[in-house]
Amino acid sequence: MPEPHVFLTRPLSERVMRGARESLPAELRVHAGIDGPPSRESLLEGSRGASGIITMLTEKIDEEVLEAAGPQLRVVANVAVGFDNIDVEAAGRRGVIVTNTPGVLDEATADLTLALILSIARRVVEADRFVRTGRPWIWGPQSFVGLDLSAGATLGIVGLGRIGMATARRAHAFGMKLLATGRRATSQEAVRLGVEAVNLEQLLARSDAVSLHCPLTRETRHLIGAQELATMRKGSYLINTARGPLVDEESLADALESGHLAGAGLDVHEYEPQVNERLRRMEQVVVLPHIGSAGAATRDAMGTMAVKNVAEVLLGRPPLTAVAL
Ligand code: GLV
Ligand code: GLV
Repeated sequence: MPEPHVFLTRPLSERVMRGARESLPAELRVHAGIDGPPSRESLLEGSRGASGIITMLTEKIDEEVLEAAGPQLRVVANVAVGFDNIDVEAAGRRGVIVTNTPGVLDEATADLTLALILSIARRVVEADRFVRTGRPWIWGPQSFVGLDLSAGATLGIVGLGRIGMATARRAHAFGMKLLATGRRATSQEAVRLGVEAVNLEQLLARSDAVSLHCPLTRETRHLIGAQELATMRKGSYLINTARGPLVDEESLADALESGHLAGAGLDVHEYEPQVNERLRRMEQVVVLPHIGSAGAATRDAMGTMAVKNVAEVLLGRPPLTAVAL
């Protein structure tokens, strides 16, 4: 039997790679492709005989991968806070620990959420595109008029957890009123920020902008569908920096096309990396390629955390951030 190794599905920053080589108690094998994630075959091949897998959210870690890895596999570390790409139950049945990277990307993701709120409310991307056409323009009292965040606009945060709270702090600083659902909606900090805890229906009916911050599970798939969009206020906005399948994109495109919704800011997509054709063509929609956590320090912290989780498990200690079953 060859010595078990740790398989890393994408090269990470130099800093993280150096740390990984120094701290992992096993040989590190890195998927060589720099252009993209491993193909399914390369993922299965790289996992074969591994004691640990450090994976990105683009890789589906299911029964087949766990089986291919073999019985010496002890830990799968996701370089992401969301872990819907991993079959946690199948891992649990095999005694394989699954870890994620909570906490370190809250601020970066909340920054990007505010960037999207501001971009669609103040029509930043649309106005930039206009200027780049080279058409003559002059200041106009009714040109590119959008929503004032500070004039009492209400932000509804669906799933007030760590990232939702970091978003709430920023929105509060911008003068927005806050509504929220989720486990921290009645916490001390929420109260201090003036958050009103409501149910989803009330949140949708009363918000000028709705921002999603819940994990993707069987229960939350299509949390926002035709009915929920119809419940939203006329002229309101939807922002999604969580997971694409939380939203039924075709229904969202309908709601935007009819003018019921005024805009959408989407960092994540239902069929990622495909972006919905209808949404992609709409001026009032900002589409980004899943960059919520893409700050240099944040990405280093995520990589370092994943490496530490693997090192701890292989050294026979509990990981820092195991995913609860
Ligand atoms: C990014 O989407 C993450 O879950 O960390
Ligand atoms: C805008 O530039 C203004 O001066 O009102």
